[in-house]
Amino acid sequence: MASRNDVATSPGTGAADQADARIEISGLTKRFLTPAGEVFTALSGVSFTVEPGQFCAVVGPTGCGKSTTLSMVSGLDRPSEGSVRVGGREVDGITDGVSFMFQTDALLPWKTVLGNVLMGPVFRRVPKRQAQASARDWLRRVGLAGFEDRYPHQLSGGMRKRVAMAAALINEPRILIMDEPFGALDVQTKAIMSTELLNLWEQIRPSVIFITHDLDEAVALADRVVVMTSGPGSVKAVFDIDLPRPRGSVQEIRFQPRFIELQHQIWDTLREEVERAYALTAGGTA
Ligand SMILES: Nc1ncnc2c1ncn2[C@@H]1O[C@H](COP(=O)(O)OP(=O)(O)OP(=O)(O)O)[C@@H](O)[C@H]1O
Ligand SMILES: [Mg+2]
Repeated sequence: MASRNDVATSPGTGAADQADARIEISGLTKRFLTPAGEVFTALSGVSFTVEPGQFCAVVGPTGCGKSTTLSMVSGLDRPSEGSVRVGGREVDGITDGVSFMFQTDALLPWKTVLGNVLMGPVFRRVPKRQAQASARDWLRRVGLAGFEDRYPHQLSGGMRKRVAMAAALINEPRILIMDEPFGALDVQTKAIMSTELLNLWEQIRPSVIFITHDLDEAVALADRVVVMTSGPGSVKAVFDIDLPRPRGSVQEIRFQPRFIELQHQIWDTLREEVERAYALTAGGTA
């Protein structure tokens, strides 16, 4: 297995156990201007903290502002009010040491599997041989040894996710931002990918914000689950998940009594918000 030294790091990365991997979101409010010129409040006073190396899942009804929150953590967008601090510094642009994974594949179709995974190290000007060795090592870790020369269209959906995971983790990010990364996968593949993500996360321990609609997935993976209200989104409750680590198989953890207990508690809180969001949407289309 590769040690941390086998994988190149950029300045500001690879310090997941230190305070520069803390994410502090405080009083985050985001307003958009609608095409009709009205002000629409998507987020209102969102506050929560992700400790260094912590795995934080965020659940909430559709449209409550989860992706909007992430765009401000990553520095792709700016808050109307409030702040996001990463490692004590206010985010005001793309932040160093942050990797992403989204629901839709972000792979370049004209590059091979190896070429896609190499992109991070190439951007960071890692010497070619070292970058190639690192990319091959990461492809092995995600179970894709032998597939280096394939193109994304020659892979299954689950395999493409593995490539995306290798491409995100090869940078040894201090922060990993995931927006429904496995949302498009079938149930079994999703469980396998989640288990693999946990294993890899345990090797690098970045601070994670993981957005999902799947409450079971949130409880199985996370140290902390943040429940958001229907829009404008705010934090309704934060649950600490005291299931021991390493968690092992995501599919099997679901049968543990403590898992079921936590799942019920959180669902009680979330259900109300999901129903409210649904009623609003249904009302809007009636
Ligand atoms: N650039 C924008 N301009 C105007 N409104 C926006 C913009 N981006 C997001 N919104 C609105 O902000 C609200 C929150 O959107 P967001 O994508 O953050 O929700 P979400 O919680 O990620 O939803 P989902 O679970 O469906 O992905 C939505 O009502 C959306 O229409
Ligand atoms: Mg979203």
